[in-house]
Amino acid sequence: MMRSRIAGTGGYLPDRVLTNAELEEMVSTTDDWIRERTGIRERRIVAPGQTTCDLATAAAQAALEMASVAAADIDLIIVATTTPDRVYPSTACLLQERLGVHGCPAFDVQAVCTGFMYALAIADRFIRTGGVRYALVVGAETYSRILDWNDRTTCVLFGDGAGAVVLEAVTEPGILSTHIHADGRYKELLTVPWGIGQGYDRLREVSGFMTMQGAEVFRHAVRMLGAIVDETLAANGMQRGEVDWLVPHQANIRIIEATAKKLHLGLDRVVVTVAYHGNTSAASVPLALDVAVRDGRIQRGDVVLLEAFGGGFTWGSALVRF
Ligand code: COA
Repeated sequence: MMRSRIAGTGGYLPDRVLTNAELEEMVSTTDDWIRERTGIRERRIVAPGQTTCDLATAAAQAALEMASVAAADIDLIIVATTTPDRVYPSTACLLQERLGVHGCPAFDVQAVCTGFMYALAIADRFIRTGGVRYALVVGAETYSRILDWNDRTTCVLFGDGAGAVVLEAVTEPGILSTHIHADGRYKELLTVPWGIGQGYDRLREVSGFMTMQGAEVFRHAVRMLGAIVDETLAANGMQRGEVDWLVPHQANIRIIEATAKKLHLGLDRVVVTVAYHGNTSAASVPLALDVAVRDGRIQRGDVVLLEAFGGGFTWGSALVRF
């Protein structure tokens, strides 16, 4: 059976930096509050007219270049996003066209902040069952478009960006295991209630902005991410401390610290980008991975644990020998 390895990574952030100081002018908040409660200093915001597919294309091209893989050789494209360019066609189809390739399967996965973990798990299964040599897996978001910029409890937390990996079919496993979960009972704690299912009349009444019960989400995130660390280590017969790097979802430095503690890892073995990216939802894990690969921290052969948690609730992880 073939297995998959990460052949290349890529990331892209829009140029516009939005600082905490600027947010102080927009809502009743302070730089101190945001940094102490979340670890965030600044985030990137798309330009007018710039879309999720624009960010995804730049990240995908960077990953293809690092992998030395031509777009024409891609057998599968999966884009994880909650902020697609259109209701349809999928952002993956739009990305395929931008890359100038035609015919390979291309589809979106919507699992909010866990989307990249879902997309990676699916692509890994395609490679294991044969028929796919190269898969392009992207997490891309323009969360700034679903934020209520008058709501201080949410607008300070998120940013825009995209990250990508190219998976290659090989005989020795790079991706050791993937684990994905969901529990729809928590659907109201983190949601954008607007949707086609509201019916035409209600569409004007229902909010198209994201809403969140932050403290509840925090509590569940710490618990579920702790559980998935145990599940991932057990599935691989590994002990805490055997992981070289943790690349966590970048929602809140306090959630990241709790997961690192669970893994018995010092923060020097954790890739933290939340200060400069904010929470970029499905883009956060591949963006952080790309940063640490490009700055030389993550080396070939290192064992890396990726994890994320998000609306649904959804949560997931992957253990990777890079
Ligand atoms: N600036 C200043 N004060 C703010 C604020 C802001 N941007 N946002 C909220 N507050 C206020 C609240 O109104 C509250 O005031 P009150 O006590 O007078 O009601 C106070 O700060 C404390 O709020 P609380 O929600 O208890 O703070 P917290 O320590 O839980 O931190 C979050 C809030 C949102 C940072 C935290 O709950 C969190 O990170 N939750 C998880 C969010 C997340 O990760 N979501 C995505 C998952 S993928």
